Amino acid sequence: MSSATASTAVQGTGTDESAVARAATIKSVYVYEAPVRLWHWVNALAIVVLGVTGYFIGSPLPTMPGEASSHFLMGYIRFAHFAAGYVLAIGLLGRIYWALVGNHHARELFYVPVLQRAYWREMLATAKWYAFLSKRPNRYVGHNPMARFAMFFIFFLCTIFMIATGFALYGEGLGSGSWANRLFGWVIPLMGQSQDVHTWHHLGLWVMVCFIILHVYAAIREDIMGRQSIVSTMLSGHRTFKE
Ligand code: HEM
Ligand code: HEM
Repeated sequence: MSSATASTAVQGTGTDESAVARAATIKSVYVYEAPVRLWHWVNALAIVVLGVTGYFIGSPLPTMPGEASSHFLMGYIRFAHFAAGYVLAIGLLGRIYWALVGNHHARELFYVPVLQRAYWREMLATAKWYAFLSKRPNRYVGHNPMARFAMFFIFFLCTIFMIATGFALYGEGLGSGSWANRLFGWVIPLMGQSQDVHTWHHLGLWVMVCFIILHVYAAIREDIMGRQSIVSTMLSGHRTFKE
């Protein structure tokens, strides 16, 4: 340990100003504004609640002991599902509003530049990196091209589908003439009848589960192996870069 280090490192406190002075300067770009970050985590929580409660709506728990009137388990499960459904839908409306007024990264979720040759070139580069065929990935300030593709074509479209089918079923429960029935009732005859909507809505759960598995894997893997920060960027908003 050099004498300079020893003089400013206060043993046991974690402070070490000389180590800080010698450290590399990290460049950072402010990417995700607070509303995007807040929406991301609230939305993730709502989807976890929807996934778990939806699974139990489709495959209810074994019979409860005692009188039916002494418990309300499926009622609570359905209530949590519907409440999280409202959070998902209202959250998405708020997120769309922020795409209009926020920075340009806030718009990436809602379209994919499929007509740009450069987009597909970067997509190929990312695919090679994910397939362990290239040694050095490129650095991306916004979502990388493959993340963007998955976020739009899997997450966004599936979420719209789940909101439309979910509120169509919800409107059935509320009754004809209810707001949900008037706004989304058309979905039921479009798919056949109520049970078809249940089946498609149920399948949507597994599409979403696939997205989440890939998404969380890619986020953590890129954070460790890639050349930019990932997970902390969705917490602080800042993207930092490695050499
Ligand atoms: C239900 C679970 C989740 C869903 C549905 C979800 C969905 C999304 C969506 C739609 C975006 C795009 C955000 C935007 O452009 O506004 C995103 C970004 C992101 N998510 Fe998640 N997420 C989930 C869980 C997680 C978890 C658990 C992590 C942490 C490991 C995570 C880390 C991130 C990061 C780091 C980004 C930004 C990626 C980038 O900078 O390219 N997500 N997520
Ligand atoms: C990512 C979002 C969502 C997921 C993963 C999800 C999942 C599920 C699943 C797996 C079922 C059981 C389907 C069956 O087998 O019959 C279900 C039922 C249902 N969901 Fe969702 N759902 C989501 C969003 C929504 C939304 C936004 C609403 C709107 C309020 C909603 C309302 C309903 C209703 C009304 C039912 C039927 C309840 C019943 O029959 O008792 N869902 N959901």
